[in-house]
Amino acid sequence: MTAIEDRFANMALWIDEACALLDARGVVVAANDKMFALLGQQIANYPMERFIRHEDFVETLRAARDQAMVSELTYFRTDKLRREFQLRVAPFEETHVLVVILDNTDTVSVDRIRSDFVANVSHELRSPLSALSGFIETLKEGAGESPETREKFLAIMQSEAERMQRLIDDLLSLSRVEAIEHRTPNDQVALYAIVEQTVEALSAQSQAKQMSFQWQLHDNLSADQLNVFGKADELRQVFQNLIENAIRYGDTGSQIDLAFRLDETTAQNLLCVDVVNQGPTIDPQDIARLTERFYRIDAGRARQMGGTGLGLAIVKHIVNRHLGRLRITSAAGKTSFCVSLRRDS
Ligand SMILES: Nc1ncnc2c1ncn2[C@@H]1O[C@H](COP(=O)(O)OP(=O)(O)OP(=O)(O)O)[C@@H](O)[C@H]1O
Ligand SMILES: [Mg+2]
Repeated sequence: MTAIEDRFANMALWIDEACALLDARGVVVAANDKMFALLGQQIANYPMERFIRHEDFVETLRAARDQAMVSELTYFRTDKLRREFQLRVAPFEETHVLVVILDNTDTVSVDRIRSDFVANVSHELRSPLSALSGFIETLKEGAGESPETREKFLAIMQSEAERMQRLIDDLLSLSRVEAIEHRTPNDQVALYAIVEQTVEALSAQSQAKQMSFQWQLHDNLSADQLNVFGKADELRQVFQNLIENAIRYGDTGSQIDLAFRLDETTAQNLLCVDVVNQGPTIDPQDIARLTERFYRIDAGRARQMGGTGLGLAIVKHIVNRHLGRLRITSAAGKTSFCVSLRRDS
């Protein structure tokens, strides 16, 4: 090893990123493991430009060598995934050039998710807000003089304002559970009572659609044996959304099944609650996306029914935090949301 390669090797020990040392011809004379892992062992003793497809790379190497210039390039590679890198080129001592490659893929995709989210929130807030401004304008222009029209407009304005309130409540809920997702709640919770209270709380909605509930206890379970580890308020939120969805998206006059059974799919002692409604079968590609924030199968229709599209995203986060599982299946006009939770017995 030459003295300069030695100094590079000492320095490379302190660098977590992929780095390589090139001589004056641009040939790779040394590199760390990360660089070999990224570009392959074959780069040793070959010109690096053969392995980096970027039109400005050669020029950048020359500038580093001849003018001691430091440059940075954005560089993409596609293996299985398209990945984004930052390429840094700098002179190394008098004769050599140092190339460092930073993987930016994760930061870029986090940024993208964040900006999609902000765009979605703004979009969801904009429509009730513009409806409100529109009605205020119309009322100011004199439409409010007829008591009937005024009442009608005020009722719409109220429902739009409530919609914004729900959206904000759901967003806060989501960020609260996300913030504590890594902490597992361990109170003893009587699950049967929670589901019972939720059904009771939603009785006005289920009656409005003439829907009935069918309770089922399998595996010799009795109602007082259904204790799980968790946080009561959060589990109430889970069943509130699942049962409300079953009512909202189920057929008028149909039956909703609430089944309790042991979850036999893992060795863990899990209790599974299945909420099953009758209605249109959901396509597999929709099922895979239901727990994404703001995902709705028929956005217009769901929004009309008051949905924000955040309910199942909240459910998923709560279930994860409980170390539980959520399984969604839909076939032959029946849709089932099955929540498994750690059983306390
Ligand atoms: N039981 C179900 N049957 C058919 N489709 C469903 C069912 N549950 C949910 N969906 C579909 O999944 C979408 C997302 O559900 P989610 O609970 O996340 O949002 P939402 O019900 O629209 O709004 P929110 O729950 O925030 O009030 C719904 O818009 C609907 O298209
Ligand atoms: Mg919902």
